[in-house]
Amino acid sequence: MIDSGRLIIIGASGHGRVAADIAELMGFQKIAFLDDRADACAGPYPVLGPVSMSRELDGPFFVAVGSSAARRRITEMLSGKALVTLIHPQAAVARTAEVGPGSIVMACAAVNPGAKLGMGCIVNTCASVDHDCVIGDFVHVAVGAHICGTVTIGPDTWVGAGATVINNVDICGGCTIGAGAAVVRGITLPGTYTGVPARLVKKAEGVLSV
Ligand SMILES: CC(C)(COP(=O)(O)OP(=O)(O)OC[C@H]1O[C@@H](n2cnc3c(N)ncnc32)[C@H](O)[C@@H]1OP(=O)(O)O)[C@@H](O)C(=O)NCCC(=O)NCCS
Repeated sequence: MIDSGRLIIIGASGHGRVAADIAELMGFQKIAFLDDRADACAGPYPVLGPVSMSRELDGPFFVAVGSSAARRRITEMLSGKALVTLIHPQAAVARTAEVGPGSIVMACAAVNPGAKLGMGCIVNTCASVDHDCVIGDFVHVAVGAHICGTVTIGPDTWVGAGATVINNVDICGGCTIGAGAAVVRGITLPGTYTGVPARLVKKAEGVLSV
């Protein structure tokens, strides 16, 4: 079913409503949600039904789910369907930066020249990704986090609110960087890292040895 001009957002959460707000500012005139919770509520927007309804709809779609794993799973389920990239009009995205399909750059965020963001990434409110960074698929740079220049971040990593990653550091995929942490050297083992400087506090599930 095609409804031109209508965006379908998957995930009727606060994050979903932020995505809807940005989509409206970008000119989408109709927005509807899909969510598996029977009591899901998306403020002024209709919730059409569960996520499985996406099979009957042509979209375009935006997946507004905070968990990287769930965002990846749902995006893979939508394979072949149109995914939009949402960029708030008050975000600064450099002409030479690349932002992948299904990614979102929120208000007052910056993505600087030469930065490359993969698919399904979130650059949250007031976060920044500086020049020449390479950010993998389904990475979330949370509110007010700063990724300095020439940093590489592997897929599915979550950089917590207000965290800082200094320049020229590589972080592997599957990490959680705690809120307020400072990553000052490379991370090669998936896990949770907190503090200043950031240290491993928990290995990711399935990682057997440090
Ligand atoms: C790091 C984090 C993932 C740990 O979550 P958790 O596994 O549920 O850990 P807990 O809340 O049980 O805390 C475990 C311990 O770590 C400490 N801790 C938790 N988060 C911390 C952080 N960011 N920095 C330093 N210490 C932290 C807790 O105080 C607690 O210490 P204690 O055992 O001495 O009491 C989480 O606290 C965090 O920072 N998440 C990021 C949230 C965020 O940025 N959201 C943004 C949304 S846009």
